[in-house]
Parts: sequence; structure tokens; C-alpha cells
Amino acid sequence: PSPMARGKAKEGDGNWKKFIWNSEKKEFLGRTGGSWFKILLFYLIFYGCLAGIFIGTIQVMLLTISEYEPKYQDRVAPPGNLNNRPMPDCTEVSFSISDPKTYEEYVEGLNRFLKNYDNSQQTDEMIFDDCPGKQTPGYEKKVCRFRREWLENCSGILDSSYGYKDGKPCVVVKLNRILGFKPKAIFPVIQTSSKEDVDKIGTVEYYGLGGYAGFPLQYYPYYGKLLQPKYLQPLMAVQFTNLTYDTEVRVECKVYGENIHYSDKDRFQGRFEVKFDIKSS
Ligand SMILES: *[C@@H]1O[C@H](CO)[C@@H](O)[C@H](O)[C@H]1NC(C)=O
Ligand SMILES: *[C@@H]1O[C@H](CO)[C@@H](O)[C@H](O)[C@H]1NC(C)=O
Repeated sequence: PSPMARGKAKEGDGNWKKFIWNSEKKEFLGRTGGSWFKILLFYLIFYGCLAGIFIGTIQVMLLTISEYEPKYQDRVAPPGNLNNRPMPDCTEVSFSISDPKTYEEYVEGLNRFLKNYDNSQQTDEMIFDDCPGKQTPGYEKKVCRFRREWLENCSGILDSSYGYKDGKPCVVVKLNRILGFKPKAIFPVIQTSSKEDVDKIGTVEYYGLGGYAGFPLQYYPYYGKLLQPKYLQPLMAVQFTNLTYDTEVRVECKVYGENIHYSDKDRFQGRFEVKFDIKSS
């Protein structure tokens, strides 16, 4: 290498070191101590303000949130969403009358679900009330008892197989709980989408509160998990007593009520569908 090149390399080296610490100007990485201090101070204040705004927003949000009610309720719980048991997402009920194993899971599902409705679960007088007809103000935040036996042949008390052993399956219907929602006269109706299925469905029995065909209204409104942790949604049961066997039967259950609104966007609002396929042997 020529002496000139070596000199240049040395000079470059020196510049780099000078950049990190320039002893003449007392500069570190090109800035003096004062300049560094100002920059750090600026960023400290800047990020401090950002964090302040962030925390402040959350605080305001928390202040406006009620302990008793979620701030936003929309599509998560549209009034009138129906749920069916044996299984909430069960859209197909397929079993063979002669083989109890094939309907065991449906019976188990109903047993599990209706366990909360046992009389032994509703003994606490501080929490539960019989809610005789119209509510008086004092009763308001008590949970209305719901007796399993009101579901009669679908209660699992008279027939522990919920009609499955006779090929007359029960479906228990519940309306999703909606905070503060006061329904007016709601009742479920079994329908079909095709005419041909009407004959296949046959007769349908509805069970609910003592012959009253509809969701009893004294169970509403629901005041939320904090006030009513043991809230029991009123139930309805539907029994298909003369279904056609050995073929698929599509059934739609729809709830009707004055203030239940249907939306074309949400297929499952206010209705559910079940497909029965019962083998006679
Ligand atoms: C309930 O079941 C009993 C015994 O199987 C039967 O006699 C009665 O008719 C059923 N009730 C209804 C409403 O179907
Ligand atoms: C059940 O349905 C069949 C036709 O599918 C009909 O002949 C029969 O009379 C019905 N039974 C009752 C009890 O309704």
C-alpha cells in the first residue's frame, strides 16, 4: 500500500473516534452534554404526556362503566336470541329408538342443563322468590323460581329419557338473557320452511308455566350477574310427539313477540333450526 493510502486510513479512524468523543468540543456522538440533556428532557415530557393521556382516557372510561351493566350490548345479545337444548349448537338430532346409546348424549345434555332448575338449587329465600304474578317493588331483584316440573313430560321427572325412548324427543327452549329487556308476550312456534315437512312434524306439545303458552314475563328484566348471580331463565319445552321416522325432518322454531325484531343479517336471531333423523328400529 502507498504511504498516501495508509495516511487516509489513519485519518478515517481518527474521525470515527472523534465522532464518539470529541474532546475539543466536548461532544459525545456529535452533541454536547447540554444538548443531550435537552433532548432527553424533551422525550421524557413527551412520553410522559402520552402516558398521561392514555391513563386518563382509561380512567374516564372506567368511571362511565356501570358495575351492573355492560356498556355495550349489541349483537352479542340481541333480544330474542333462542337457544335450544339438548345442546346449544346442536342442529341435528339423530338417534335410533331401540338403542338407548344413540340418544344418551342428548339426555345427558338435558340433565346437565336442567340440574340448575332442581328445587334443591332454589331453596335460599334471600335469593329466590315465587314471584306471584305481578312483582311488587321489594321483589324486584330477587330471582324468580322456575320449577322443573312445569316442563311436564319434558322435565325429565316423569320420563327420565325426555321422550327419547318413545321416539318423542323434547327440545328445551330458552331465550338468551338480556339485561333490562322487558319482553311483551313472547311465545315460540314450531314451523317448517317447506310444506312437505309440515306433515312429517306431526303434533307438537308445548310445555311452560302452567299451561301458559309463552315465556312468563315476571322473569324479566334480568339485572345482571352482580345483582342476580343465580338468575334462572324461564324455559319452554317442545315435544315432538308424532314425528315421521326414518327420514330427515327439518324444524324451525321461531319466537314471536311484540318487541322482538328480526334481522335478515342474523339468521339465528329469534329462531333456531333442528334436523331430526329418527330411526324406528
Ligand atoms: C305426558 O305423558 C303421559 C305418559 O306418557 C301421557 O299420558 C300424556 O298424554 C302426556 N302429556 C301430553 C300433554 O302429551
Ligand atoms: C301421527 O301421524 C300419522 C301420519 O304421519 C297419522 O296417521 C296419525 O293419526 C298421527 N297420530 C296422532 C296421534 O296424531
